[in-house]
Amino acid sequence: MLQLENVVKTFGALRAVDGVSLHVRSGTMTGLIGPNGAGKTTLFNTIAGSHAPDAGTITLGGHPIGGLPAHQVFHRGLGRTFQIPRPLGSLTVIENMLLVPPGQAGERFWNTWLQRGKVRAQDAANLAQAREVIDFVGLSHLADQPARVLSGGQQKLLELARILMANPSMILLDEPAAGVNPVLLESLIERILLLNRRGITFLLIEHNMDMVMRLCNPVIVMAQGKVVMEGPPDAVRSDPRVLDAYLGDQP
Ligand SMILES: Nc1ncnc2c1ncn2[C@@H]1O[C@H](COP(=O)(O)OP(=O)(O)OP(=O)(O)O)[C@@H](O)[C@H]1O
Ligand SMILES: [Mg+2]
Repeated sequence: MLQLENVVKTFGALRAVDGVSLHVRSGTMTGLIGPNGAGKTTLFNTIAGSHAPDAGTITLGGHPIGGLPAHQVFHRGLGRTFQIPRPLGSLTVIENMLLVPPGQAGERFWNTWLQRGKVRAQDAANLAQAREVIDFVGLSHLADQPARVLSGGQQKLLELARILMANPSMILLDEPAAGVNPVLLESLIERILLLNRRGITFLLIEHNMDMVMRLCNPVIVMAQGKVVMEGPPDAVRSDPRVLDAYLGDQP
C-alpha cells in the first residue's frame, strides 16, 4: 500500500529522516516506535505532504506521492492525525466535520447557480455522513457543541472522524493514546480495530507500548532518523537493538 525508498528529510544540518525504506502492507496495522526525536513525526509529515522529501521515493498504491501537497495526498486516500489535534474551536463538532468532504459540488461557483438542487442534495448527503461518522466515534451527544469544549481525547476522536469523511484507504495516527483517559482510549482502540477490519490500513506512532503490542503487527523501530528493525511485536520487544535505541537516547 505504502512504499518508501531511501527517504531523506533534513532541517539544516540535521538529518531528521535519514534514508528510510519501508513497506506498509495493505490491511495491516503497522506500528512505528522509537525514542523522542527519532524522526517519526517528521516521517509522517514527509509522507503526508507537509514536508517535501529531500531525496527518495514515496508511493501509495503504486502511485508516486513524494512532494505532493498535503491536500492532494489526502484526496488520494491517505488521512493523518496530528500529535496535537487542532480543530476549529469556535465551530461546532458537526461544522468541523463539514469542512472536510472532497469534491463538494457546492464549492464550485457555477454549480451553486446552475445546479442548486444538486448542491442541496450533496449538502444533505454530507450532513448525513457527518452524523453517521460522529455517531460511530461516539461524539453524537456533542455534535452541536463548539469544538473547544472537547477534552483532549474527544478532540482525537473528532480528528479521526474528520479523516473518515474522506473515505481514506490508509490512516497515519500520530500518538493517538497520548493524553487520552483510559475509558476513552478503549473506545478509540475499538474504533481503530473496527476500521482496520473494514479494510483501512493503519500506520501508528505510539509511545504506549501496551497499545502497540496489542494492536500492531509488524512494528517498525526508528532511531536517529533511521529504521533500526522491523518485526512482529514479540521479536521487537526482545531485540537488543531496540533496547539500545531507547537507552542510547538517555542523557
Ligand atoms: N520543523 C522542524 N525544524 C527543525 N527541526 C525539526 C523540525 N521538526 C522536527 N525537527 C527535529 O527533527 C528531529 C526529529 O523530530 P520528530 O518530531 O520527527 O521526532 P519524533 O520521533 O516524532 O519524536 P517524539 O516521539 O518526541 O514525538 C528532532 O531533532 C526535532 O527537533
Ligand atoms: Mg512525534
